[in-house]
Amino acid sequence: MPHVMMITCENDILHAISIAHSKMKEFPFSILEKQKVFVAISELCKNILIHSGTTGEVLIESIKNGIRITVIDNGIGIPSINAVLEGKNSPNSKGLGLGLRGVKRMMDVFIITSTKEEGTKIIIEKWCN
Ligand SMILES: Nc1ncnc2c1ncn2[C@@H]1O[C@H](COP(=O)(O)OP(=O)(O)OP(=O)(O)O)[C@@H](O)[C@H]1O
Ligand SMILES: [Mg+2]
Repeated sequence: MPHVMMITCENDILHAISIAHSKMKEFPFSILEKQKVFVAISELCKNILIHSGTTGEVLIESIKNGIRITVIDNGIGIPSINAVLEGKNSPNSKGLGLGLRGVKRMMDVFIITSTKEEGTKIIIEKWCN
């Protein structure tokens, strides 16, 4: 059963990270792998608060070999996902500078769907090998 949380403020992000931290204890993840997941959650949730124009939701669940996190908002959507993932957007100095590209690189699964009608949904998984 996924753990579902609303993302409305910075504190909600910390809460989501602490839930991920507990769920990851089921697996022998290294410290570095755990940190990658925490950074990914932080980046995706901050994007909701900064860019989507609305609030969002995060679902965290254990899967057979690790953890799956689904981050959803029904905000304005990302106009040019391909350009973003190719690094063609100018980096915003306010963040960690990792952004969506960094999250994609750090995860084993990264699935993004985004439209201006329905907003943005990103599914990430980290596997424990
Ligand atoms: N949930 C979202 N809703 C709407 N637009 C988004 C969302 N997430 C990202 N974007 C758009 O995609 C762009 C790239 O996001 P990304 O996280 O890679 O970089 P950033 O947030 O601009 O900078 P950084 O994350 O490095 O601080 C953002 O500038 C924003 O225009
Ligand atoms: Mg960002």
